[in-house]
Amino acid sequence: MKIAVVMGGLSAEREVSLNTGAGVLAALLERGHDAVGVDWQAGTSLPKLLDAAGAEVVWNALHGTYGEDGAVQGLCACLGITCTGSGILASALAMDKVASKRIFESHGVPTPRWRIVTGDAVDDFATPFVIKPGNEGSSVGVTIVEERAQLADALALARRHHGPVLVEEYIAGTEIFVGILDDAVLGSVEVRPATRFYDYEAKYKRTDTKYLLPPEVPADVVTRTQQYALDAYRALGCSGHARPDLRIDPAGNAFVLEVNTLPGMTKTSLLPKIAAKAGLDYASLCERILAGAR
Ligand SMILES: Nc1ncnc2c1ncn2[C@@H]1O[C@H](COP(=O)(O)OP(=O)(O)O)[C@@H](O)[C@H]1O
Ligand SMILES: [Mg+2]
Repeated sequence: MKIAVVMGGLSAEREVSLNTGAGVLAALLERGHDAVGVDWQAGTSLPKLLDAAGAEVVWNALHGTYGEDGAVQGLCACLGITCTGSGILASALAMDKVASKRIFESHGVPTPRWRIVTGDAVDDFATPFVIKPGNEGSSVGVTIVEERAQLADALALARRHHGPVLVEEYIAGTEIFVGILDDAVLGSVEVRPATRFYDYEAKYKRTDTKYLLPPEVPADVVTRTQQYALDAYRALGCSGHARPDLRIDPAGNAFVLEVNTLPGMTKTSLLPKIAAKAGLDYASLCERILAGAR
């Protein structure tokens, strides 16, 4: 089978995706697969690139808009090419925070109390609360509002992005990412940013963000967190691999923020770290994801 590792893409996460793609391609070649890298960039046509590569399977190394939201999954379906990761609907639902939260609630998956903000007032939430755009990633446009005086700026920032703006109850405590592969939990990692929250800087730029593997919270809290993560993945209809994002309050209650369907997959990314701890090396993880292409 001719494998196209599709990377780069048109989203703000292009650079991260190029790193993911380079890592995955090297791993697949090292294991003897017939793989080629496809850098999808502005001004190029992905269907033509896939055709020129003779692609039979897409290993989707994209992140963000057009890669993670069902568009590429739909293109592959139309072209008769299989693709790794979640399908069209699950990808689209997971990328959309409003749709995700409605589905979590209808499946009994705990998620922070929220609503869509249409006007300029948020009187029904006590500070601190969170303002975020409904369709972004990488913490772009997210503000933790500590005092009401910050609200106007927070709304203006979130409204720079298309789609609805959400207000969410702020969950104090800690943050845990759960690694899921083929409908099973691989493990989880606790993230402790040195900044106020896990913002863009903490995710990609700073070196003082702490990653605790396994999480330093009681075992029963980890078990519950991982169960809710799997419930969220199943509720959205995900497949292949994913990395749900949860907040754990000081009493040990877990709340699902979102499910990332195309998490970073460089050798040092969180999902590969979680997999390594579970005894699955990087190249084997890339191959397991490949085997799940539908
Ligand atoms: N309700 C919340 N309570 C506490 N922190 C939050 C909440 N919502 C978001 N955050 C912080 O903001 C970060 C980004 O928010 P998230 O909803 O995961 O959006 P993104 O898609 O941008 O990652 C989270 O990783 C977390 O650190
Ligand atoms: Mg997140």
